[in-house]
Amino acid sequence: MTDLAITVNEVSKCFKRYRHPVDRLKEIFWPHQQRAETFWALQDINLQIFRGQTLGIVGRNGSGKSTLLQIIAGTLTPTSGYVRTNGRISALLELGSGFNPEFTGRQNVFFNGQLLGLTQAEIEARYDDIAAFADIGDFINQPVKTYSSGMYVRLGFAVATSIDPDILIVDEALSVGDEAFQRKCFSRIHDIQDRGGTILFVSHAATSVTQLCDSAILMDRGEILLEHTPKMIISKYQKMIYAEAENAERLRGEIRQMQSSFNSQAVLQEIYSRHPINGATNDGTANGATLTVTSPLETPRNNIYHDHYDPNLEPDHPIRYPGKGAEILDPHLTTPNGQRVNHLIARKIYVYTYGVKFTKPASHVRFGMLVKTISGFELAGASLQAKSRELKQIEGGTELIVEFKFKCLLSPDVYFLNAGVSGIVEGDFTYLDRWIDVAMFRVQPCEVSCSTAVVDLLVEPKLTVTSGSAAVLPEYL
Ligand SMILES: Nc1ncnc2c1ncn2[C@@H]1O[C@H](COP(=O)(O)OP(=O)(O)O)[C@@H](O)[C@H]1O
Ligand SMILES: [Mg+2]
Repeated sequence: MTDLAITVNEVSKCFKRYRHPVDRLKEIFWPHQQRAETFWALQDINLQIFRGQTLGIVGRNGSGKSTLLQIIAGTLTPTSGYVRTNGRISALLELGSGFNPEFTGRQNVFFNGQLLGLTQAEIEARYDDIAAFADIGDFINQPVKTYSSGMYVRLGFAVATSIDPDILIVDEALSVGDEAFQRKCFSRIHDIQDRGGTILFVSHAATSVTQLCDSAILMDRGEILLEHTPKMIISKYQKMIYAEAENAERLRGEIRQMQSSFNSQAVLQEIYSRHPINGATNDGTANGATLTVTSPLETPRNNIYHDHYDPNLEPDHPIRYPGKGAEILDPHLTTPNGQRVNHLIARKIYVYTYGVKFTKPASHVRFGMLVKTISGFELAGASLQAKSRELKQIEGGTELIVEFKFKCLLSPDVYFLNAGVSGIVEGDFTYLDRWIDVAMFRVQPCEVSCSTAVVDLLVEPKLTVTSGSAAVLPEYL
């Protein structure tokens, strides 16, 4: 067996589209008159997926994700090109495929098990496990057409993952289930990953893609625009879906451009710089203040972290939802003594600040902030309510400054900030002004943190040798 689980070679898929359903009939009777428009759902797709890899597939609706997965799963034939797969594939495709609606859940389990290559005895042996995982009670003995979409996915996922697939394909299905069920599914997916299985995962949920996948592709209009880290793909995807129409083409071009330079040192280095903690080691200098970051690509370089402002680290596409009655001015970060920064150091104190200019009288005003990860996960937020007598009612023409002082208890990575002001203007409770991704910052490591995930809980690890002996330990691990 090779290390490749899936090879997609020059795959294109053309669908015929009819303006009116009756045109399809007319074409049968008068085949010389073409009534269909041809539509290329996939164009020249090339992809190699290694065994053990979990690939995220991200893209707008209609970008061709499901078509690609169906071709890989073998339920749809490509118009040109070919797919090679290595190992047993199990696919949880979009709702509506896979089960016969007239059969009961139990019958469908057997029916699907056979399609997946299991013998009757093998299915019998797994049936209880499948039913227990799906956990849909007596519905398992009812026709599938009576199921809710949640029950459908429960049974579909249970079947798809119970046959020890070498390749598991999951097309958006999990967004249907409740959180508890999703959690159970993710731990199953982790089991398959631990066994060395290959996974293709389509999802709009940014955190699932970043947490589950090793790499991801961004699809658009039947093409793969970019293959990169999950974080990068999610961030480009979010930019694309929020881009104004006039910027969309330019952005698309920029993303493609990235793909052509993907193998360049600079891009790879950027990927590694997003995970400085992975390569960070204490270099053993006297006070431990110097950290050496080892990128797998280059010789170690010395780096003493200090907070500063880098004009290149500004968000590309802040999104503004203009409300009425106020304007947020210049949201930015500073040190406690007012120095502007966007490269921060973990565990130090900073201030997020913005000005607000009221154009109309407003009452019950709240000022808000939100910190998000690159994948869009909302990490921390705060809101300040203007309670004091002077601020309960704010006159038009008032200008003020809001400050949110915080301790940067985050691990090294890049984060984004929102700013928003809400309140009652002209009798309506509304946003007066709101900015999404209006500022960004990079957190650099501090020398003492032992944090290994996003939020740093100021954990103080302690080790006690209870028998035997050990060399002297540093104060922190
Ligand atoms: N059977 C079909 N006949 C005609 N057009 C189709 C068919 N299946 C998908 N398409 C079209 O192909 C494009 C890609 O669809 P799809 O792969 O479902 O996208 P995604 O899963 O990314 O939302 C869409 O424009 C869709 O309308
Ligand atoms: Mg789809």
